[in-house]
Amino acid sequence: MIIAVDGPVAAGKGTLARGLARHFGLRHLDTGALYRAVALALLRAGTDPTDESAAVAAAAALEDPDLDDAALRHEKTGQAASIVAAMPGVRAALIDFQRRFAAKPPGAVLDGRDIGTVICPDADAKLFVTASIEARARRRHEELQARGLPGTLEQVAADLAERDRRDAGRAAAPLRQAPDAYLLDTTKLDIESAESEAIAVVSRKLARV
Ligand code: DC
Repeated sequence: MIIAVDGPVAAGKGTLARGLARHFGLRHLDTGALYRAVALALLRAGTDPTDESAAVAAAAALEDPDLDDAALRHEKTGQAASIVAAMPGVRAALIDFQRRFAAKPPGAVLDGRDIGTVICPDADAKLFVTASIEARARRRHEELQARGLPGTLEQVAADLAERDRRDAGRAAAPLRQAPDAYLLDTTKLDIESAESEAIAVVSRKLARV
């Protein structure tokens, strides 16, 4: 069983994907962490993330990445990740890893930008999770404050808008809702309600297949 969860930055898809995995007894892969791992490898080697051949080589060399490395979460890594994620060669090098992860029994929940459209177009259930830019900026800002990290609400909102533009505007696998994905808008939902709606949607979908 494969569940695809796509959506823009800070819409809540990671939390929902983890909740779905727990509920349905599946493994979970945060695919953004793969692009972040490629970016981090470049930053650590002192290589410019815009160097496409170095980025493709780093993606091809990614065999058993440590997806719990705290440095993956740094803002600088996220920005560099969105640069390497626009490179078709980097995306191609990461496809096998994601499909192998999804195919391993009992199945998995993958969250990202192109899971329902490119990586697992035949997923058993697909969600496209979104929220207004204001709601996403507010949540991300609260998260940063809770972790004692810098950034005003305005800066966070500007950064999100910039990442939205880059993720949706790129030619290679841009952020798009798959035609058969359920649109879950979390703007007015708290985590619990968003999670129960996601579980209900997936359960209905699975009952039909
Ligand atoms: O979700 P995130 O912030 O961890 O993702 C980091 C970057 O990777 C983001 O700019 C978009 C990109 N990404 C992607 O292009 N495709 C995915 N499946 C997941 C993330």
